[in-house]
Amino acid sequence: MPSPNDRPEPPRMASVDEIRAEFPALGRRHNGLPVAYFDGPGGTQVPRSVVDRMADYLYHHNANTHWAFPTSAETDELLAASRRTFAAFLNADPDEVVFGPNMTSLTLRVSRAVGRQLSHGDAIVVTELDHHANVDPWRSLERDRGVVVHKARMTPETGQLDWDDLDRALSQHRTRLLAIGAASNALGTVNDIARAVAMAHEAGALAFVDAVHFAPHHLIDVREWDCDFLACSAYKFHGPHVGILYGKRERLGSLAFSRLDPAPDTIPERAESGTQNHEGIVGAAAAIEFLAGLSRAPDGGGVSADQALRRRLTTVFDGLHDRGCDLLKRLWDGLAEILAVRLYGPPPSAFRTPTLSLVVAGVPAAEVAARLARRGIFASHGNFYAQTVVERLGQSKNGLLRLGCACYTTEDEVDRVVAAIGEIARGEA
Ligand SMILES: Cc1ncc(COP(=O)(O)O)c(C=O)c1O
Repeated sequence: MPSPNDRPEPPRMASVDEIRAEFPALGRRHNGLPVAYFDGPGGTQVPRSVVDRMADYLYHHNANTHWAFPTSAETDELLAASRRTFAAFLNADPDEVVFGPNMTSLTLRVSRAVGRQLSHGDAIVVTELDHHANVDPWRSLERDRGVVVHKARMTPETGQLDWDDLDRALSQHRTRLLAIGAASNALGTVNDIARAVAMAHEAGALAFVDAVHFAPHHLIDVREWDCDFLACSAYKFHGPHVGILYGKRERLGSLAFSRLDPAPDTIPERAESGTQNHEGIVGAAAAIEFLAGLSRAPDGGGVSADQALRRRLTTVFDGLHDRGCDLLKRLWDGLAEILAVRLYGPPPSAFRTPTLSLVVAGVPAAEVAARLARRGIFASHGNFYAQTVVERLGQSKNGLLRLGCACYTTEDEVDRVVAAIGEIARGEA
């Protein structure tokens, strides 16, 4: 007779089929084939609940803020609730959460404000692994403020940051800020951000973290990382096109943001400008709630609603990580068998995101992507604005093909893309 111990553990999160049912885009067909979306690192699909929440805002609550009538008060409350949701997502406080159009604009805004405190000869350290949205805003200070930007190297063979070089870059100059990515959108490398932030602080520098590619795959914890700033983008985790910035309270309060007079000078609004994208912010918060709603684990009692939300997110991100590891391994191992394929990024045994890049010998990445699209497989190609990564890999001319797994990716889709790349590598149209 089976003992109670033989009973299978109840699932801790929704199955892939349950998740897929939430995404109308997954019903799309191309050339008679179901579409498999491997373009998540460029932008993820959006579940029904997020779109519904945005439509509901626009249909029933749309107004400008801070007025004495119900739709305005509802807008105020929805924006405040969205800040609380993102505070739980980031492990921050609501007044440390800033909204904006996208990560790039928010980073540019912080770079302008930080730049005002810098003088000729001060240094900023960026990394070769980074998306240029976390490089060029800092480089613009070279021109404007006489600041020197140093780039910490990546190791092309492993796709990892060269930590000795980072250490040298931080300590050998008058470094005032480290700008570093939590994960590479080209290779899936995950950086040890707590370590990098500690190194930056040790050198007397602030730490600005680009978590755009990290956010869909691992749960951010700004308190654990102790970073001064962090930016991410909701369209990479099933939300609309809205950027989110975290800033430590004292930093948000003291930086000289370009603020126009009618705007409040209190945090977090002093770091924002103009009328916000209300429906986008509401939708971005709905994306976090969608993710939390994938948890099937009991909440446990005795905690606040925000703590319960963070607990659910922890469960879900653990589950997504496990699934992502399995999918990435299947993808990597399948592609590694194809002789003409060269894979880039850390191996599946590394702590990473389920994103990899590759080249097929003799076929430009744009052509591989076009042939995959004919087979109903959508994947990005080029440099993904991680220009330096692609340069260091010697692939600037032909570019890389990038495959990213998302929460809705199935093993069958992975097998499909492996088979399709095998055909392309063998010269089958
Ligand atoms: C790692 C990384 N950083 C920054 C960005 C820029 O984000 P946004 O499009 O929100 O400006 C991207 C976008 O692809 C990215 O992948």
